[in-house]
Amino acid sequence: MTVLATPCAPLEPETVPATIETMLYEFLDGQVRAAADLPELALFTDLLRTMIAAGGKRIRPVLCLVGWQAASDLAPPPAVWRVAASLELFHLFALIHDDIMDASPTRRGKPTAHHRLATHHAGRPDADTLGTNAAILLGDLALGWSYELLHTSHPSPTTEHASRAWPLLNALRTETLVGQYLDLLASGPTPTTLPTVSAACRVIRYKTTKYTCERPLHLGAHLAGAGPDVLAALSAYALPLGEAFQLRDDLLGVYGAPERTGKSVMDDFREGKQTVLAATALARATPAQAHTLHAGLGNPYLTCAEAARMRQIITDTGAQATVENLITERYEQALAVLDHAPLRPPAVAFLRTMAAAVATRTS
Ligand code: IPE
Ligand code: IPE
Ligand code: MG
Ligand code: MG
Repeated sequence: MTVLATPCAPLEPETVPATIETMLYEFLDGQVRAAADLPELALFTDLLRTMIAAGGKRIRPVLCLVGWQAASDLAPPPAVWRVAASLELFHLFALIHDDIMDASPTRRGKPTAHHRLATHHAGRPDADTLGTNAAILLGDLALGWSYELLHTSHPSPTTEHASRAWPLLNALRTETLVGQYLDLLASGPTPTTLPTVSAACRVIRYKTTKYTCERPLHLGAHLAGAGPDVLAALSAYALPLGEAFQLRDDLLGVYGAPERTGKSVMDDFREGKQTVLAATALARATPAQAHTLHAGLGNPYLTCAEAARMRQIITDTGAQATVENLITERYEQALAVLDHAPLRPPAVAFLRTMAAAVATRTS
């Protein structure tokens, strides 16, 4: 692929998604070719292809490449593209397992991997269990392949690049998985003690912010040889922005348009997610409102009508407006960092656009 072999053009962040998709499809083709005696593998690679084709914003690869651009005027070399593609494959792993843990029926507007796999085995009495177990394996493959992609075929990252990327990739994995555990702890039937905003933001930081914003930027910049001042500026931008990203996700999880988000507006209620939104609403609710919220949060059989009542209560308590304000505050914080950050101007311009897109996104 020409992009991999001779990345000679300057970076245009808008072109990153298409290039990453091509890299991922080629990588999956290679996996099928290399395992000719395992025809069952095609089921897994086809599912990953379907998930990629279904959509996705590719924010992590884009930020990885912009991280490079923040620290270098040169076009990003193949090693950086590989790390960026690896991040998207890691993300697919995280989504597949997340959808099992959150019992989510749809992702990117299509049935989730475990639902698809259950349908694939529909003739069997254990179809649901098999679908979930097979999706765990699919996620495992995506995770393993996200590392394999870094050092297969032509051209592989130099030893120097690999040794620079590994510690950050290792940290990203640990942070995300522990973050997901913290999220599981903060789910289920609502507890008597509600999380504070700062406790809920800690969950957000580890389950989302690090692997979505901070680490991708760090990876690109680090590969470009960035010093601590650049990495610190990128963190100062990425941490509030990542919080804004997840706070918006929480609003979209309750008020979003499923045809735009590709996700159900029932999941967070049914899973009883202790989001900042839910915690704020509960803290302000009248006893009657709190009773309705408590009854609905963590109820896997919640109906659409009950969810609509909960949505109205959350709006009436002012919690929706409060979360909007928290997003705006974080957006402004991220922008302010860019005013004096020691980052290259093209990256700063793009990071400004990105901050606005993240804060106002509808998908
Ligand atoms: C969804 O991530 C999971 C979270 C961390 C909130 P994205 O919103 O980036 O999902 P896609 O890739 O665009 O589908
Ligand atoms: C997903 O968080 C985080 C990871 C995939 C690591 P959520 O569970 O809040 O995100 P959505 O709403 O399902 O995308
Ligand atoms: Mg989820
Ligand atoms: Mg989740």
